[in-house]
Amino acid sequence: MHTFKELAAQFEQRMKRDLPFPATPKLLYEPLYDFLDAGGKRIRPVLCLMGNELIGELNEDAWHAAMAVEFFHNYTLIHDDIMDAAPIRRGKATVHARHGLTAGILCGDVLSIYAYEELAKVKTNLSAVLSLFNRTAIQVSEGQQLDMDYEQRNDVSLEEYIMMIGLKTSVLLACSLKMGALTGGSTGGNADILYDLGKNLGIAFQLQDDYLDAFGDVERTGKQQGGDIMANKKTYLLLSAMHRADPVQREEIEHLLHHGGDAKVEAMKALYCATGADTACKEAIMNYSKLAYTALDDLAIPQKRKEPLRELTEYLLVRDF
Ligand code: IPE
Ligand code: IPE
Ligand code: MG
Ligand code: MG
Ligand code: MG
Repeated sequence: MHTFKELAAQFEQRMKRDLPFPATPKLLYEPLYDFLDAGGKRIRPVLCLMGNELIGELNEDAWHAAMAVEFFHNYTLIHDDIMDAAPIRRGKATVHARHGLTAGILCGDVLSIYAYEELAKVKTNLSAVLSLFNRTAIQVSEGQQLDMDYEQRNDVSLEEYIMMIGLKTSVLLACSLKMGALTGGSTGGNADILYDLGKNLGIAFQLQDDYLDAFGDVERTGKQQGGDIMANKKTYLLLSAMHRADPVQREEIEHLLHHGGDAKVEAMKALYCATGADTACKEAIMNYSKLAYTALDDLAIPQKRKEPLRELTEYLLVRDF
């Protein structure tokens, strides 16, 4: 069994060694080398590898699926940064900010195809792996569209928000874990429990991402602070602040949503704290994590083998980047 750190380090090494991109066209591939080199927590590939190791010895198929999911994730980030007009990611200028929109679109497109090329190398349960990956990819796009739609709406419910982040973010974590099990030869109950675990972990993960967008330290997150507030993203923080606000606070929130201005981010954060939305968000993170732990308990696998996954879940909860 390997820890998160060990698997992340091994993955990093293999990915750098096996990057499949040619040298030209330069403007298509150079940004990809840079982007993949700029770090990232590598959570999804590690989840895939852990799912695989829960079933048996780590195998080659799991490494391919892990690479595929990290490529796919990075493709979604490059396009997400265009959609969110994000200036920085992983502490550097975003691909489109640095190289232009065309580069952002094409680099993302080609990376998604390279993801499929990696996936096609899988031998064990390929058809199940492929249909899971395809369904997940479709759901991510659906979630991303809802995320954009919600920017324009002021009546989004918490249920709609949870459904949206389930699609844009958590299905990919769930898919990663389940692909690990599938490439390990398991198609039964454990594979489905792992999916369920990933789903709840993913929701906690996106809640934490939203929290850090407002309250994180740019030095640690490598992303612009308050980007969600500037874009009127309907995050858990904003939705629960609206729920909890008294009439005066509610009016202030509405005003900020419509008028903004330079002080918008700080003013909105102050309202998140004054209404207790910050604490509510932390509680929601705990609740979804608990559901993930319950799924972990349900796995028909010796406790000791589950330890790395338990540690990873804990680490994701306390992360500040
Ligand atoms: C960012 O994902 C996008 C979300 C789904 C929240 P990560 O936080 O895993 O990004 P990297 O790969 O570590 O940069
Ligand atoms: C991104 O959510 C989800 C996907 C990339 C599919 P966010 O827009 O919150 O991710 P960050 O904060 O830019 O990393
Ligand atoms: Mg974004
Ligand atoms: Mg986004
Ligand atoms: Mg975010």
